[in-house]
Amino acid sequence: KITSLTALEVLDSRGNPTVEADITLEGGATGRALVPAGASTGEKEAVELRDRDPQRYGGLGVQKAVANVQGEISQAILNQELADQADLDHRLIALDGTPNKSRLGANALLAVSMAYARALAAANGKPLYRQLADQASYVLPVPCLNVLNGGRHADNNVDFQEFMIASHNAPTFAESIRMSVETFHALKALLKQKGYYTGVGDEGGFAPNLKSNEEAVELLLEAITKAGYRPGTDISLCLDPASSELWEKGKDGQPGQYRLFKSTQQTFTSAQFNDLWVSWVSQYPIILLEDGMGEDDWAGWQLHTQALGSKIELVGDDIFCTNPAILQAGIDQHIANSVLIKLNQIGTVTETLATVRLAQANGYNQFVSHRSGETEDTFVADLTVATGAGHLKTGSGSRSERIAKFNQLLRIERELGGAGRFAGIKAFKNQ
Ligand code: PGA
Ligand code: ZN
Repeated sequence: KITSLTALEVLDSRGNPTVEADITLEGGATGRALVPAGASTGEKEAVELRDRDPQRYGGLGVQKAVANVQGEISQAILNQELADQADLDHRLIALDGTPNKSRLGANALLAVSMAYARALAAANGKPLYRQLADQASYVLPVPCLNVLNGGRHADNNVDFQEFMIASHNAPTFAESIRMSVETFHALKALLKQKGYYTGVGDEGGFAPNLKSNEEAVELLLEAITKAGYRPGTDISLCLDPASSELWEKGKDGQPGQYRLFKSTQQTFTSAQFNDLWVSWVSQYPIILLEDGMGEDDWAGWQLHTQALGSKIELVGDDIFCTNPAILQAGIDQHIANSVLIKLNQIGTVTETLATVRLAQANGYNQFVSHRSGETEDTFVADLTVATGAGHLKTGSGSRSERIAKFNQLLRIERELGGAGRFAGIKAFKNQ
């Protein structure tokens, strides 16, 4: 039984309002959770309820979502006998009543759902990852650090959103994060040496203006070497170009195209854009490519999966939106071989876990993710360990809302001792 449920309008890492929920259970156990927010969001994501009052926070206030938690949601679930997480989440989904959680807000529902998971963990005297999945042993993930930011996450001229390094040749998570952060520092020194800007973007990676998108990859490879590691052997590259943001719909029945909006304005047909990725994958040690094609280009995604789906990991983010029904359609149409997992794309813990299980049952990998607007909440660290997803992306080597997740994983690794194993290269599809 939940005996108390409150919510508060707090701030995320971009200084935008978000929802925090606090739950107390009968017996006194408590749980708190904060909801993150995306910038390059998928069209089919569950709806974040914003006040749209231009007088407050430029319309981004969440007082309505907070009021929904303290009003309608509280009335429906306070002092009710709840069987488990799924019982609560199904009640929240039914109460909202819309397919995309637009009435009460996915931000309202998810804050309650996550806070309940934490309260149950406290009541059971378990760490959160064990509350989400009680197992004899666990896998610690390879962290993929987004050390160079572009696209909608940075005010530079780089078109592609995320250039990540994955330190997979390590015995432990702690060693992997050390290698990654050493490389982050080597990259900073390299940028300085070249006279480039070393300020960071939304996810804590550097955000310099560069001569080309290719130069971003070259800089990462040079930084890996400078830090004393072997590109491709110790540390490989992962990319999220966030191609939905580059897609221009075709007019009058014409096919759409991709455009490098921030740099050259060069355009590509779907087939040409896939060719670009095929050539990058043949030139560089890239083991994971997320959203190589846009969410509205299912035909392009099919072509892309035929070309690269047996070589590297192809992750669907915007195209699947952590939604089990959409993922099922993607599986049926042979699109991608991995799914990005973001709690707030779907809006409850139970549905997130359902998407993970659907992926597992169909041989798709799961890549767990933060959002570009984050908070100090470290739920995704525990979620990654609970699901055994084996890899996650949750920022770079700076900004505490990102580092908080890495620190939580370091604590979990210590706590697990012999019951935890570092995933290594096997975490990546086709490796
Ligand atoms: P977002 O970006 O959180 O701004 O949506 C992350 C991503 O595209 O993976
Ligand atoms: Zn993405």
